[in-house]
Amino acid sequence: MSGLIYREIHQNERVITVKMIQSIEATVINPNLFIRHSLWEIENLFDKDKYRLLGCYDGDMLIGMSILYLDITYLLKFYDLIKAEDALICEISWLVDENYRGRGIATALARHQFEYAKNVGYDYLFATAHDENAPSIKIIEALGLELIKRDEKFDGYNGREGYIRNVYVKKLR
Ligand SMILES: CC(C)(COP(=O)(O)OP(=O)(O)OC[C@H]1O[C@@H](n2cnc3c(N)ncnc32)[C@H](O)[C@@H]1OP(=O)(O)O)[C@@H](O)C(=O)NCCC(=O)NCCS
Repeated sequence: MSGLIYREIHQNERVITVKMIQSIEATVINPNLFIRHSLWEIENLFDKDKYRLLGCYDGDMLIGMSILYLDITYLLKFYDLIKAEDALICEISWLVDENYRGRGIATALARHQFEYAKNVGYDYLFATAHDENAPSIKIIEALGLELIKRDEKFDGYNGREGYIRNVYVKKLR
């Protein structure tokens, strides 16, 4: 779609970012498909050691974002799957305003984050999705990630465990 801008979300955009996340979370009908962001995550969202936030803007309006999870305390659970303790790993997720879905925005956000992760030297990129999250699985496959595990007790990073998630990974270098 033309006219859309993809760029990193700045610290001074905290309010519009949190509002967008919360309004999208409010539209999610099946809570098993999308793990809501915890208060801790929201508070730490602009910590560059923990996250890279890429936004999609229609004019000044933030209408989608992709989060690259860089926080080692969260990512530790993935190391057992790759058996490479010295590898640099990250995880990707995405969300797009309901009114803008089906136009390739999440795919474009994901591709930008993928290239970033590769270019700055990450070794592995992870993603997770519920079986029924069809668009997410399509994006994951388009990026070339492969299923590595079906997790019945996935830790959703918000103090709650027990999500059913397919875990996907791609070796970047
Ligand atoms: C998942 C989400 C980010 C997708 O955003 P989007 O911008 O609509 O995605 P895209 O337009 O890039 O579509 C990606 C693929 O899914 C397909 N798709 C989109 N909506 C679909 C639907 N409802 N059912 C099946 N396929 C769908 C698209 O056709 C595209 O496939 P293609 O490249 O083969 O044509 C969006 O639905 C969303 O925000 N959902 C709620 C939050 C969420 O679930 N996040 C993911 C957590 S893992």
